[in-house]
Amino acid sequence: MNVLGFESSCDETGVALVATRAGGPPRLLAEALHTQAAMHEAYGGVVPELASRDHIRRVLPLARQVLAQAGLGVADVDLVAYTRGPGLAGALLVGAGVAVALAAALDVPALGVHHLEGHLLSPFLAASEGGEGGEAPAFPFVALLVSGGHTQLMRVDGVGRYELLGETIDDAAGEAFDKSAKLLGLGYPGGPALSRLAEFGDDGAFALPRPLLHSGDLDFSFAGLKTAVLTAQRKLGPNVCEQAKADLAASTQAAIVDVLVAKSLRALKATGLKQLVVAGGVGANRRLRERLDAGAARLGARVTYPPPALCTDNGAMIALAAALRVQAGLDAGTRAGAFDVRPRWPLDELSSAAASVLS
Ligand code: KG4
Ligand code: ZN
Repeated sequence: MNVLGFESSCDETGVALVATRAGGPPRLLAEALHTQAAMHEAYGGVVPELASRDHIRRVLPLARQVLAQAGLGVADVDLVAYTRGPGLAGALLVGAGVAVALAAALDVPALGVHHLEGHLLSPFLAASEGGEGGEAPAFPFVALLVSGGHTQLMRVDGVGRYELLGETIDDAAGEAFDKSAKLLGLGYPGGPALSRLAEFGDDGAFALPRPLLHSGDLDFSFAGLKTAVLTAQRKLGPNVCEQAKADLAASTQAAIVDVLVAKSLRALKATGLKQLVVAGGVGANRRLRERLDAGAARLGARVTYPPPALCTDNGAMIALAAALRVQAGLDAGTRAGAFDVRPRWPLDELSSAAASVLS
């Protein structure tokens, strides 16, 4: 079965073709991505209407590119997958509209995928033939999902079986990186820029809060940290030297990473599981990786990361999640020709649906 997947929940248009085969993991045949980051940079964040319009411009050329790369035609597509949510409503509608229309024209099913399920399952793609290598995790595992919109710890028992262990009560970790980077004048998206600048700074130079570090649960909070960064930055004044900026970047990164690491290790201890999977854009952060690897090793646990290209939004993870859901017997898609999107969609809703299908 060849699955054509579309991702358009935020500021990346991603299209990919994944093939399932009996007795083996799905295989990535081709993928293409267009990031709108440069377009939104001038505004310091994603402008939803501009995002939707750009998805419209990019999506069909990218789909053609993917099919050409795979040496296949539209008639070879057996299932069309798209991101149904969560995300920006207008942006989601573009991918959903194109996917469902294409599926109807080809007389094949269309399947709406949960964006975070895509991130959660992306390490399996890295390990598959055609992926970028790496070892696949085995169920069950703890997943740390850290992106621009989400910060969650999940227990993952299988495809479609997700239990929320803890999440942010305000900003996401990626948002904390992006907003702090904006305060430091680092542009958008600021996470990668802030972490590059942090390499040159002293992470103990500024005493920034570690919100909820000792809360005893697995929840996160990053809104207060942003305010502390703002206060520190104001104290430095407008003529701040490069070293002080690097010190503040390093201190900010350390505060975010400290909390993410402490809670992830607590989740491993609480569940007794020995495997942590990190997914989402912030998973590309080098310091986070070093600290998680060291902390997990002390617990006798292993950490798996998708390759950086799969950490951020992409079409491959959407095609893969659809393929795995079909293989698991949880979904077959629909030929109804109707589509809906879910801009807000709690991931654990999938678990109750999976429980009723599997029981
Ligand atoms: O998963 P993703 O591509 O999109 C969402 O679904 O949000 O994640 C994007 C987020 C942004 O906030 C970006 O700043 C952050 O991931 N990010 C990083 C790094 N690379 C991307 N944050 C810190 N360090 C990085 N190296
Ligand atoms: Zn994402």
